[in-house]
Amino acid sequence: MPDGQGGARRAVIVIFLGPPGAGKGTQAKAVAGRFGLAHVSTGDMFRDHMSRNTPLGEQAKKFVQSGGLVPDEIVLGMVGDRISQSDCRNGFVLDGFPRTRPQAEALAETLRCGSWGKPLVVYFAVDSHQLLRRLTGRRTCKVGGEIYNIYDAPPKVPGRCDNDGGELLQRPDDREEVIRERLSQYEAQTRPLVEYYQGAGLLAEVDAMGSQAEVTGRVLQVMSPPR
Ligand code: AP5
Repeated sequence: MPDGQGGARRAVIVIFLGPPGAGKGTQAKAVAGRFGLAHVSTGDMFRDHMSRNTPLGEQAKKFVQSGGLVPDEIVLGMVGDRISQSDCRNGFVLDGFPRTRPQAEALAETLRCGSWGKPLVVYFAVDSHQLLRRLTGRRTCKVGGEIYNIYDAPPKVPGRCDNDGGELLQRPDDREEVIRERLSQYEAQTRPLVEYYQGAGLLAEVDAMGSQAEVTGRVLQVMSPPR
C-alpha cells in the first residue's frame, strides 16, 4: 500500500471505488480497523445529517432521496472537515468518495498539500445482476449500522440485528426506481474515475463477486504491503 510516499506523515489513504451495492461499506467495516484506519463513508454522513435534520442534511436530502449526487461543494466541505479529525491522523478508508472528477481532483490537491501521499484505489468489480440482488436485499441496523442482506447475509432473527437486537431497516433509496437513477449516475459520473486512477497507476481491481469472506480476503491482499 503506498503509505505517505514523499511525505513525512506516513498516513495511509485508501479509496473504495465501485457501483452502488458493490460491498464497499461492508468491506470497509471489515478491514479499516485492522489497519488502524478511520472509515469515512459520505453516504453514512449524509444519512446521519438527514436523521438529525441539520442544515447540511436539509441540503442533501433531495439529492439522496432521488438517487442523484449531492453537489460537489457540499460534499467537499463535509469531507474536508471529517478528514481533519484526530481519528484520521494515521489514515482513512474513503467509502463513496470521490464520485466525480472534480471531487477526485480536489482530493488529490488536499492530499498533496497535506503531505498525505498518494492513495491506493481499490475498485470493486461486480456484475449488474448481483448489484440489484445486493441492493434490494440490503437491511441496515437502526442502532449500530450493521449491514445485512435478506438473501445472502441474513440476521439470525429476521428483522433484528445479531449484535444489539436493533430493528433492521431498508434504505429509502434502495427502492427500484431510485436504484435505477443511482446506477445511471454511477455510469455517467463515477465510472470514469476507474480510468482516471488507472492512468495514475493507483488502481487495484478486486473481484467483488463471491462471499463476503472471500472478498475480504482479496481486499486484505491488495491492502497488505508486500513482504
Ligand atoms: P452511499 O451510501 O455511498 O451509496 P452507494 O455508493 O450507492 O453505495 P451503497 O451504500 O449502496 O453500497 P455499498 O457498495 O456500500 O454496498 P454494501 O456494503 O452496503 O451514498 C448514498 C447517497 O449519498 C448517494 O446516492 C448520493 O446521493 C449521496 N452521496 C454519497 N457520497 C456522495 C459523493 N461523494 N458525492 C455526491 N453524493 C454522494 O452492500 C450492499 C448489500 O450487499 C448489503 O446487503 C450487503 O450485505 C450485501 N453484500 C456485500 N458484500 C456481499 C457479498 N460479497 N456477497 C453477497 N452480498 C454482499
